[in-house]
Amino acid sequence: MNDNIRNTAEEEAAIPVREPERQYYYIEKAKRYFEQMCEAAGRPLTFCVTTFGCQMNARDSEKLTGILERIGYREEPEEEKADFVIYNTCTVRENANQRVYGRLGQLGRIKKKNPHMMIALCGCMMQEPEVVEKLKKSYRFIDLIFGTHNIYKFAELLAMRMESGRTVIDIWKDTDKIVEDLPSERKYAFKSGVNIMFGCNNFCSYCIVPYVRGRERSREPEAIIREIERLTKDGVAEVMLLGQNVNSYGKTLEHPITFAELLRRIEKIDGLKRIRFMTSHPKDLSDELIEVMAQSEKICRHLHLPVQSGSTRILEKMNRRYTKEGYLALADRIKKAVPDISLTTDIIVGFPGETEEDFQETLDVVRKVRYDSAFTFIYSRRTGTPAAAMEDQIPEDVVKDRFNRLLSEVQDISAERCSRHTGTVQTVLAEAVNDHDDSLITGRLGNNLLVHFPGGASMIGKFFPVHLKECKGFYYLGEIVKE
Ligand code: SAH
Ligand code: SF4
Ligand code: F3S
Repeated sequence: MNDNIRNTAEEEAAIPVREPERQYYYIEKAKRYFEQMCEAAGRPLTFCVTTFGCQMNARDSEKLTGILERIGYREEPEEEKADFVIYNTCTVRENANQRVYGRLGQLGRIKKKNPHMMIALCGCMMQEPEVVEKLKKSYRFIDLIFGTHNIYKFAELLAMRMESGRTVIDIWKDTDKIVEDLPSERKYAFKSGVNIMFGCNNFCSYCIVPYVRGRERSREPEAIIREIERLTKDGVAEVMLLGQNVNSYGKTLEHPITFAELLRRIEKIDGLKRIRFMTSHPKDLSDELIEVMAQSEKICRHLHLPVQSGSTRILEKMNRRYTKEGYLALADRIKKAVPDISLTTDIIVGFPGETEEDFQETLDVVRKVRYDSAFTFIYSRRTGTPAAAMEDQIPEDVVKDRFNRLLSEVQDISAERCSRHTGTVQTVLAEAVNDHDDSLITGRLGNNLLVHFPGGASMIGKFFPVHLKECKGFYYLGEIVKE
């Protein structure tokens, strides 16, 4: 049906080789196919991007959304009603994968009833060959499959799918490429994630991320600054700098710079009010960074510092390259330099070979550091990682029991830590109308805690002094202080 759009040899030669120009060319091409598709359907077609996993994936989804909107698609928040559904997947733990398969079955049934529907899968799960094999065999209704390394080619792959009418599968093993200046569409007008680096070189023995996200690559500082300047001009007050290990930012650049130095430069950007970053690996957290945090007016008083385990023996098997004592000393240095800091962490329970004594060491770290909050995970065996082949995988009932004990400890401490701000006045960024009560606004403190206070939608994206009247365990009820 699309022969009139197919390129002649001459046009073929005119396809830009350079990026991002090439993708802008394919956006225009996809737009022409899209218009035909809308005509055939007799209505404007819609899309829905569903994100699994971490903030990296959330940011990637904003890039996909930016491209789809340029092509002409309208966003449909309800997946079941959309004509083009894209799953941006995560594979960090097995249950993330199971969720995707479960929902795919359901999508397949919806697709049978909607002849104009397309389904695309991308993200970390697609970097695993056995996943793609399974999709090819058992989920043949999928239209487009691509991975993490070639996500910037989304427009080109989509145009290819529209042109051929056949399933397009394109997965790359790795890349050293970073493509700048593609369109993207922010979920929030007033805050944005900003990638500062991609990939990971740490190879923690339990973790699949280095295999599915490739080697560590930093963006040039100038490109990052340019992006943030543009964002602030467009109304963004808060940025979250994203990387699997932001503390090793810049080490592999032609002109290396430290993460602390990057922060100093970002701090100077006019109009930017808050700076956050994720994730910090304890082994690379420098005194220079602590100093920059202590002096900064804009860096939020919140540090996410995953410990994973409190046992030096297990940390070594995890290839984390710090000890329990080293971690505790680091946490102390940070608390001393930034007294009001809120520390949060990630903890894995049930790593192969973990004994009750090892687990007690983890509880000990939790009690000593007193985290404001902690994400706790049950160890999940990821094919291809060194830990998956280790002996002494821990039985499920033992892990569950430890997990519950850890959770209750973590929650008690969080509640106590949260309540320490009761009665104070804090600067709060109004983020959204409350889900349950639309006379309330939900806002975020610098330390990442939430507060609900009376207000209306017009306040979203602005800062207010809020009196924290009552702590409800993990959040506050408050009231704006009239000046
Ligand atoms: N780069 C970040 C974390 C990325 S993954 C860092 O190093 O801190 C987010 C969290 O998922 C990790 O901190 C870890 O706690 C958890 N995680 C990763 N692999 C896991 C696995 N195989 N089983 C259980 N939890 C895992
Ligand atoms: Fe995974 Fe470790 Fe890299 Fe984090 S630092 S992404 S846990 S390998
Ligand atoms: Fe998941 Fe990939 Fe992030 S595996 S946690 S979405 S980097």
